[in-house]
Amino acid sequence: MFPMLSTPDSSLAFVADGYHYISRTCDRLGTDGFRTRLMGRPITCIRGGEAARIFYEGDRFDREGAMPASTFHLLQDEGSVQTLEGAAHRQRKAGFLALLTGGGENRMGEIFEEELAAALARRRDGSIVLHDELGPILARTAFRWAGIPDPDREVFRARASELAAMVERAGSFGPVNWAARLRRHRTERWAAELIVAVRDGRIVPPVQSPLAAVARWIGDDGSPLPAAVAAVELVNLLRPIVAVVRFVEFALLALASRPEARARLAGGRPRDLTDFANEVRRRTPFFPVIAGRVRRPFTWSGHEFAHRDWVMLDIYGTNHDPRLWPEPERFWPERFETADPRHIVAQGAGRVAEDHRCPGESATNRLIEAGLRVFLRSPWQLVPGQDLRVTYSRMPAKVRSGLRVSFR
Ligand code: HEM
Repeated sequence: MFPMLSTPDSSLAFVADGYHYISRTCDRLGTDGFRTRLMGRPITCIRGGEAARIFYEGDRFDREGAMPASTFHLLQDEGSVQTLEGAAHRQRKAGFLALLTGGGENRMGEIFEEELAAALARRRDGSIVLHDELGPILARTAFRWAGIPDPDREVFRARASELAAMVERAGSFGPVNWAARLRRHRTERWAAELIVAVRDGRIVPPVQSPLAAVARWIGDDGSPLPAAVAAVELVNLLRPIVAVVRFVEFALLALASRPEARARLAGGRPRDLTDFANEVRRRTPFFPVIAGRVRRPFTWSGHEFAHRDWVMLDIYGTNHDPRLWPEPERFWPERFETADPRHIVAQGAGRVAEDHRCPGESATNRLIEAGLRVFLRSPWQLVPGQDLRVTYSRMPAKVRSGLRVSFR
């Protein structure tokens, strides 16, 4: 069995530094797993490439009761693909993959490139805080890509800030989190109205658009998805696009401190941009962990996992495990000349069609690459004197200044 920590509860230690907590504890104990309690509940924490495979492959885990309600209701919701298993999951997942692979991901990148270039051109004099500017630009990208009719300015502003808040507040508790949940309900109501309007023919989005597709999706019983569930899935397409803010921000931070990379990427192969984007996904402190509950008992690494055991996989630590990633703290895109980007677990692991691995990995790469391309073409610099430290005690972590950029 994995060792049990002697501290009665690890909640405070985890909240103080969720990104390093599991790995540091594992290193201290010389294991890839340990047992403790979080919020009074027993939990097993695991890390490493093999742990990620065990966690994602083979239908060993589901997500029921795995996340605190505060996080679950912001990132997912009842009836979403993430709460499904088996045949129902594969069917719903195929719908996501049809939209996010095989062309849709490239279109998303193109739209973002256009929107970002246009937004920066409007702000050529003075400086901007990238973190604040990117959210609405990515929200506009998400709307255009999904085929959502142009909303009026107020509705757009409300939806863009609600989508951003779902990710920003996912690691929070109490009133801040409740406020974000309330806003998520508003977004879901708006999305459900859109679905119903498409079904009634009051709104006619382009036939191939994600909005039209999701409105047509059926459940495993062959009947159309309830509008509330289709709405949750529409939000599941829009919200993560806005979440890519963080990756674009960290990509720019990496670019700013590497003038040589700037020159090389500007004239280099498209493959170099992809390697850079992959290294951003590996290094960025985004979701620190993912939790699941055991569906059927199994044994791994000498530890017996019992039915309904609560287990947490260390995402950030696995992306910084020196056994998988030599010199893990070094930002080193050239590692992908030989390393396999599928071993990055920032967006889950396993097989994308069967397991809960994120269907948006290629789309995420296309968005980061598009962001890089726009900035490689623009004369910009980080405004001197800003606080570029990363706050790891906050989840998701944040560059303190939000990245203030000026254009020459
Ligand atoms: C900011 C970039 C992104 C991050 C950090 C991210 C992260 C993740 C993670 C960790 C999972 C696995 C959840 C689990 O195991 O329960 C996941 C699943 C998922 N992601 Fe992403 N994702 C990103 C971008 C996207 C994009 C661009 C889309 C779609 C537009 C997307 C849609 C989904 C969906 C639908 C699932 C559920 C898959 C399933 O349960 O089978 N994600 N994502």
